[in-house]
Amino acid sequence: MDSLYFSLLALSLIAFLPLSSSTYRQMSGGSSLSVENSDDVLMSPNGTFSAGFYPVGNNAYAFAIWFSKPTCLVLQHCTVVWMANRSNPVNGRRSKLLLLQTGNLILTDAGQFNVWATGTASLSTVRLQLNETGNLVLSSSDGTTLWQSFDSPTDTLLPLQPLTRHASLVSQITKGNYSSGFYKFFFNDDNVLRLLYDGPEVSSIYWPDVWLLSWQVGRFSSTGRRNAQMDSLGSFNSSDSLGFRSTDYGADGIQRRLTIDYDGNLRLYSREEREKTWVVSWEALAQPCRIHGLCGENSMCSYSPSNGRKCSCLEGYKVRNQSDWSYGCVPEFDSSIIASRDFTFIRIRNAEFFGYDYGVSENKTLKECETECLQKVDCKGFQYKFIGSRGFYDCYPKALLRNGHRPPNFDGDVYIKLPKAYVTLKKKELSKKTMSLGCPPNTSINLERSYAVSQDNGILKFMMWFACALGVVEIISIFLVWLFLNRGRGDENVAKEGYFLAATGFKRMTFYELKVATKNFSQEIGRGGAGIVYKGMLTDGRVVAVKRLNEANQGEAEFLAEVNTIGKLNHMHLIDMLGFCAEKKHRLLVYEYMEHGSLAEKLESHQLDWQKRYDIALGSAKGLAYLHDECLEWILHCDVKPQNILLDSGYQPKVSDFGLSELRDRGKLSSYSFSKIRGTRGYMAPEWVFNRPITSKVDVYSYGIVTLELVTGKSPRKGIQSLEGGQVEEMDLVTWVKEKRKGSETKETWIEGIVDPTLEDKYDKKKMGILVEVALECVQEDRDARPTMTQVVERLLRPNQPLIRKY
Ligand SMILES: *[C@@H]1O[C@H](CO)[C@@H](O)[C@H](O)[C@H]1NC(C)=O
Ligand SMILES: *[C@@H]1O[C@H](CO)[C@@H](O)[C@H](O)[C@H]1NC(C)=O
Ligand SMILES: *[C@@H]1O[C@H](CO)[C@@H](O)[C@H](O)[C@H]1NC(C)=O
Ligand SMILES: *[C@@H]1O[C@H](CO)[C@@H](O)[C@H](O)[C@H]1NC(C)=O
Ligand SMILES: *[C@@H]1O[C@H](CO)[C@@H](O)[C@H](O)[C@H]1NC(C)=O
Ligand SMILES: *[C@@H]1O[C@H](CO)[C@@H](O)[C@H](O)[C@H]1NC(C)=O
Ligand SMILES: *[C@@H]1O[C@H](CO)[C@@H](O)[C@H](O)[C@H]1NC(C)=O
Ligand SMILES: *[C@@H]1O[C@H](CO)[C@@H](O)[C@H](O)[C@H]1NC(C)=O
Repeated sequence: MDSLYFSLLALSLIAFLPLSSSTYRQMSGGSSLSVENSDDVLMSPNGTFSAGFYPVGNNAYAFAIWFSKPTCLVLQHCTVVWMANRSNPVNGRRSKLLLLQTGNLILTDAGQFNVWATGTASLSTVRLQLNETGNLVLSSSDGTTLWQSFDSPTDTLLPLQPLTRHASLVSQITKGNYSSGFYKFFFNDDNVLRLLYDGPEVSSIYWPDVWLLSWQVGRFSSTGRRNAQMDSLGSFNSSDSLGFRSTDYGADGIQRRLTIDYDGNLRLYSREEREKTWVVSWEALAQPCRIHGLCGENSMCSYSPSNGRKCSCLEGYKVRNQSDWSYGCVPEFDSSIIASRDFTFIRIRNAEFFGYDYGVSENKTLKECETECLQKVDCKGFQYKFIGSRGFYDCYPKALLRNGHRPPNFDGDVYIKLPKAYVTLKKKELSKKTMSLGCPPNTSINLERSYAVSQDNGILKFMMWFACALGVVEIISIFLVWLFLNRGRGDENVAKEGYFLAATGFKRMTFYELKVATKNFSQEIGRGGAGIVYKGMLTDGRVVAVKRLNEANQGEAEFLAEVNTIGKLNHMHLIDMLGFCAEKKHRLLVYEYMEHGSLAEKLESHQLDWQKRYDIALGSAKGLAYLHDECLEWILHCDVKPQNILLDSGYQPKVSDFGLSELRDRGKLSSYSFSKIRGTRGYMAPEWVFNRPITSKVDVYSYGIVTLELVTGKSPRKGIQSLEGGQVEEMDLVTWVKEKRKGSETKETWIEGIVDPTLEDKYDKKKMGILVEVALECVQEDRDARPTMTQVVERLLRPNQPLIRKY
């Protein structure tokens, strides 16, 4: 009994011993690190970085460098900055990193194969050391550097690490898989830094925009040099004149990294030393669907801040490989149908498919463009784009349909060519689909791939059993420690999951900072249901509007998640959020300051001429259409009114006050019920009163009322006195306009009768007619009869086209 007890004790002592040993500061010739000993780690002097074996799969490891400060309880949560031969992980047994006396550094797999080596040699003694900057340096005793990890980056560039002509950043393949992926950040042949999608089938540059010459985007390459670097304060400079700064530029004690992510975007991340969350402090592309490659041929990319990117097949195509959308979609119809050579076209509104054009033909009618595509056997469809400045359409027949997406406000359509026989066959289904023409189905991309388990080299069953038992004990104690560390930190998971986007200018601010900026909240410029708005000035001189929300009635995590979503919305007709503050009970939002205040003020003082009014109607419709997004319904505004439409120095409207409580996707739409009525009397859709389901059409209704107010100059909040049959009657704005319409013979006269008298007759009669017509359609009682905001925009943009009724 005793002897058994002692042998168990001895065994557990042996098992625990490595845990108490210390990590290495440097390695000298003849020593090695073993994958089997989790403590075989090389650490930088102050512990910011560690290098060792990092688990990348089931029994699969890679030799890597990672951030080890702040401490990550589980190695998998540490952020990796470099890996040796990352596409070939090594076995979890008997794999080693060996530093030979001869000066070669090699990585062996399962004690048999060399997977990676520096190929260096030295006559004097060598040592391997991890610098505080994250650079793993192999040097000889005479001080020469034989090899350093900074010279061969993987997907991350650290501060002070140069990017040269010999190096490039290559993304990892998917979220959980560290293998080399298809996205590359590098100096192109023209010495300009670019982002490239280099897929198995095609490759294309997507940043900066290839149709712009490098000097148009401010890149100069004449020096012939290729060198870029980020300094420790967060400023990136390159020999091609690309320069940017992180939003926290200048702050000390912040960890930073520039990474090309598996989704193809290049991002600069920052993190305060003690925080767990990385914050995006700069990124190359604000619209992720501009990145090539994720959705393959014949598919469309869509994006919503809450759900990320999604791919979907075009009408008539089906996905080739459900587990990897980059393979794209293939025709659903068989080739015998194609042989009949009888084709028709299906329209996808506001879509762009970049590249693979046969050329461009200017000023074409739709018919001419169709003919052009029909004449080319391999033409898959065409882009039909309105050129606003010249007043006509251009036609781009396409050989391939790739890079499909819907940029906000894109004024063009794509028509895809399909066999007539197929379309007839599918007519029933297609006609059902026209309600959401071209909207992608809600299939999301599965980026996770399973990993093939490496072969196990037969081990003693007893050892296995023992290791398992130990593992359980360890897991339990780790879990207990974790529980202990996480007491009272409810938002931990949220923080770990995501990062908070801070595209240029968007950042978290302190309460003190905003108190100073607003001179202790002294200059009130507005007041609404959610809170009071103050004018202020930031330390960098920017004038801002600071909205102080009434009470913190939601947790910090929830608030951060919402702000994160709103902060990502980016549209010229939506107010820009510059930052936010969440400190104790305080919740503040910082917006750009709008010179001309709100539409309400300007309407009251009759300062708007016809052109401004039309632009305001169009601009706010565009802003709302973007919020609603035809396919995703990101955000309902729920309180569209002149007080929430702000005007910039050029009287361009920007919709404000959106997204503070409702962020949702289409899937939840029908089942969603609002806990309390929102909105403002006079602008509220009847659904609110009759307790019907709330959809984006409530905003359409409110928009219609605002438009009527723009036209008539009369506020819907006051009754209108009307002299009817000798009697003074009070009625609301909509009824009044409808009464006027009923009472007149011609359209011209009744519109004259309602137009704001201060406009006199200085307006475009035709456009005015359309504006009133659209407004009246928007304020219909039946929500399904109202147009969508996208349809409103289309109607106002092209007043000469007849209305195509789809709703
Ligand atoms: C390590 O930390 C100490 C104390 O914080 C600091 O003085 C020193 O500069 C750091 N060394 C490096 C290489 O960063
Ligand atoms: C990575 O490992 C594979 C498989 O052992 C090998 O063929 C390849 O040459 C290695 N690559 C590098 C860069 O060492
Ligand atoms: C590594 O760090 C040491 C001390 O911080 C410095 O002297 C040395 O130049 C660094 N080596 C490289 C190759 O960066
Ligand atoms: C980057 O370029 C700017 C302007 O040319 C210069 O002021 C700054 O010092 C440079 N920073 C670095 C790290 O080279
Ligand atoms: C689909 O893609 C996965 C991952 O790339 C691959 O393993 C699989 O073989 C593919 N399937 C087909 C049918 O091409
Ligand atoms: C476009 O084409 C039409 C018909 O061919 C022609 O009348 C019109 O002048 C053209 N517009 C421009 C701007 O060239
Ligand atoms: C990572 O992706 C590569 C290439 O597609 C694949 O061969 C490998 O099995 C994947 N590894 C893991 C861990 O999923
Ligand atoms: C799409 O969303 C609807 C509604 O949420 C759901 O019923 C349906 O199963 C989803 N389809 C797919 C393919 O996920």
